[in-house]
Amino acid sequence: MEPKVRIPDPCTIIIFGASGDLTRRKLIPALFRLDWEKLLPQPVNIIGISRAPETHDQFRDAMLESIKTYSKDEIKPEDWKGFSQGLFYLTLDADKPDSYPVLNDFLKKIEAERGTRGNRLFYLAVSPEHYPVIVKNLGQAHLSAPTSKDSWTRIIIEKPFGHDLDSARALNNILSEYCKEDQIYRIDHYLGKETVQNILVFRFANSIFEPIWNHQYIDHVQITASESLGIENRGSYYDKAGALRDMVQNHMLQLVCTTAMEPPSAFNDRSVRDEKAKVMQALRPIAPEDAWEYTVRGQYADGIIDGKTVAGYRKEKNIAPDSRTETFTALKLFIDNWRWAHVPFYLRTGKRLPMRMTEIAIQFKRTPHLVFARTPDDQVLPNVLVLGIQPNEGIEIKFEAKLPGPAIHLRQVDMDFQYEKSFAAAPIEEAYERLLLDALLGDATLFARVDWIELAWAFITPILRGWEMDKSPVPTYPAGTWGPLESDQFLSQDNRRWRESRLTKR
Ligand code: BG6
Repeated sequence: MEPKVRIPDPCTIIIFGASGDLTRRKLIPALFRLDWEKLLPQPVNIIGISRAPETHDQFRDAMLESIKTYSKDEIKPEDWKGFSQGLFYLTLDADKPDSYPVLNDFLKKIEAERGTRGNRLFYLAVSPEHYPVIVKNLGQAHLSAPTSKDSWTRIIIEKPFGHDLDSARALNNILSEYCKEDQIYRIDHYLGKETVQNILVFRFANSIFEPIWNHQYIDHVQITASESLGIENRGSYYDKAGALRDMVQNHMLQLVCTTAMEPPSAFNDRSVRDEKAKVMQALRPIAPEDAWEYTVRGQYADGIIDGKTVAGYRKEKNIAPDSRTETFTALKLFIDNWRWAHVPFYLRTGKRLPMRMTEIAIQFKRTPHLVFARTPDDQVLPNVLVLGIQPNEGIEIKFEAKLPGPAIHLRQVDMDFQYEKSFAAAPIEEAYERLLLDALLGDATLFARVDWIELAWAFITPILRGWEMDKSPVPTYPAGTWGPLESDQFLSQDNRRWRESRLTKR
């Protein structure tokens, strides 16, 4: 029997930043697909807000174009008709307090006309410097409070949530002035990925892995999030962020938590987020003066990707020619608790690496004793369990096997689960569908809680300070390679190596 699907209450979704990239590429295509899957409530209103003067019809036309461009699905006229009737546009300057009475009037009018009972989801899809002022304006106009005791008002905040610990705290403070924590949904799209959710299922719906999921059996963990793309048109954002803020503070630390957390007592927002917060509390701090020992930075130079020559980072649009921003980072962290004592977690992420690939590799300890004599051709390799996040969605276990033949020779082979083969369908790639739906349903399990965000920044900020103090040149790497040489040395000094040489494109 198919699990029963919950449908959210009728509501209005208000998107600040309606003419931006996120709305066009992700939010509207995801909402359209949810509507097509009959997972959105009826009625639902979607109000786009931006400064550009536009009519409802112009907005609808632009959104249709976006869905055609960014969605893989065929758009049937009848589906679009139903969806587009709920789309509205409001020209407003969200930074100005006097825009909010206008928004309030419009909301009341639409809600009365379409019967959406005052449930509201605000989505902040604007650049982060506008978050505090929009939150304050919404609060002062009494729009952040629920409209009645039977209705809800929620707010989704996009990443980046702060720039360092102080700015993240300041944003949390302003949010808490106007909203309760259970109204706030801090999005991290990695948590909406099917393969990331499957890590919890793999760990906690099977009994055979738990006994070996600890320092007694695991030698180390490698988490890689590599991209072959450069920074595209996001130079002005990226040059102020860099790989540590852009990928590690959020997505990669969430992967660490998902891999390392204790079993929650239930799959709900409180238990899951409590367990993740405990992992963050156990992270061994890296002091600014130790940053060089635990981290590596790199910046891509000219190079070749998929046979094409690509320009180095400093030549990209909106990047200072002497920029010191890292486009690659690797770091080693320890979780100081019973389960993970002395097990290093090596993280690396970068732009303009050879391929797009995110995976978590759990490398087990070697056998305590070599039973089989080694010949020069034989290598007894340790077992590895690879959780493939993308694009090789699946799980692999690598183990030693006997090569056929009269003598005992060993080779490493794979046991392999692939989503596409096992379920005759690829996992849903679009994390935003799941996360939007969860926010509409009031389920915050896959969103970052206030304490998690602050713990993540408390871990990351001293590293940033350490890097600011270090005036030595940032190492470079040719685009299309696995980061600077320092990254390989970083592991070899621990007698380990990155897995890249064994990676293949499926
Ligand atoms: C975003 C980062 O959060 O995640 C981008 O800002 C990055 O720089 C992207 O490219 C990666 O997401 P995904 O889902 O393609 O791995």
